[in-house]
Amino acid sequence: MTYEEALQKLSPAGQEHLLQYYGELAQEQKNRLLEQIEALDLSLLELVKDGVVEPSKGKLEPLGAVTLEQIREKRAEYEQKGLEAVRSCKVGAVLLAGGQGTRLGSDKPKGMLNVGIQRELYLFEQLIHNLMEVVHRADAWVPLLVMTSEKNNKDTVNFFEEHDYFGYDPDFVFFFVQDMAPSVSYEGKIYMEDKDRMAASPNGNGGWFSSLARAGLLGRLQELGVEWLNVFSVDNVLQRIADPVFVGAVIDAGCVCGAKVVAKAGPDEKVGVLCLEDGKPSIVEYYEMTDENRNSRGQDGELLYNYGVILNYLFDIATLTRIMNENMPVHIVEKKIPYIDSNGKMVRPEEPNGYKFETLILDMIHMMENCLPFEVDRRKEFAPIKNRTGVDSLDSARELMKENGMEL
Ligand code: UTP
Repeated sequence: MTYEEALQKLSPAGQEHLLQYYGELAQEQKNRLLEQIEALDLSLLELVKDGVVEPSKGKLEPLGAVTLEQIREKRAEYEQKGLEAVRSCKVGAVLLAGGQGTRLGSDKPKGMLNVGIQRELYLFEQLIHNLMEVVHRADAWVPLLVMTSEKNNKDTVNFFEEHDYFGYDPDFVFFFVQDMAPSVSYEGKIYMEDKDRMAASPNGNGGWFSSLARAGLLGRLQELGVEWLNVFSVDNVLQRIADPVFVGAVIDAGCVCGAKVVAKAGPDEKVGVLCLEDGKPSIVEYYEMTDENRNSRGQDGELLYNYGVILNYLFDIATLTRIMNENMPVHIVEKKIPYIDSNGKMVRPEEPNGYKFETLILDMIHMMENCLPFEVDRRKEFAPIKNRTGVDSLDSARELMKENGMEL
């Protein structure tokens, strides 16, 4: 793209300030900036033009789950089916590691966090360790795809290499980089992070499958015979990955998708709940539910909207491929965005000063014709590390790890 073409693209959208420092830049920087402008999706800016409106929900109805008790009864059967699938390389795992972990406040990839006390034990390491249990039982490697972002790809790949992939077979590990989205002021002007760079952040975890496809990994998965992908977050240290019992249950139910869920700790726990929306599976955030929905109980006294998701899903690749190009809702999140002002001076705001755009994996569930909610014991499988202290922090995760007999 030339300077003139860039100006032509930006002017109608009122974004020509992105070229304000163009004249001061070296040729290489100019090229980089023009490349960024060429790739820029201006349609996102329309979403904040008339104020922010969150996508609304349809008619909600409760959805039960395959409960712990039901799973216990059929465990052996599920496990055998799941192990067969893993053994024949039908199951791949996708680690979502493109987030910025802003609540934790480290500028390193979250997976590099040391969760050990007496010894070093990194989040990435523990996740690989969890996956290895299945690899050993099935006596087969599970292809592991790791999504990073432009901001943390280099650190992440280096970290895996420096640690010999924590014992995993590097031939079965595939990194891919997710897309970025611009960060804008409340008036919808894209911020500049530097004179040759727009302010941008990873565009949420909803684009994982299209990013994976764009990286050319679908062909590789096909060659390996992978039919299912188990997608999981980087920060749940007790995460069971490619869990044969879960895989077997989803296959047994004839579903195209499954979600691990935990019974809510109470009506006010702030987790996304798996339910039905207009007759299709859907995840509804705490703040999207009415008080009545949150508190209503069935005859057995259980909450009707009882099952919270823990970001561990199993998807059928054929379905993912079919829906890949459908539009997903874009969420607009307020954020503190560092930027350079019109004098070229760096500003690091103390308060949110604009928006970032994200699509979310939880919205994919509503694009599936069905989804099996699969209950797990939260004290055994859910120890997320989101915050520096308190709820869902390193301390709370360490407690749960110890409770599960892990030496830290
Ligand atoms: P979170 O929603 O907790 O976001 O991500 P985060 O970026 O890790 O943390 P905060 O909100 O800034 O504190 C849930 C999972 O989705 C991944 C994260 O790495 C984590 O595994 N994720 C999130 C991505 O891969 N890309 C994104 O753009 C956002």
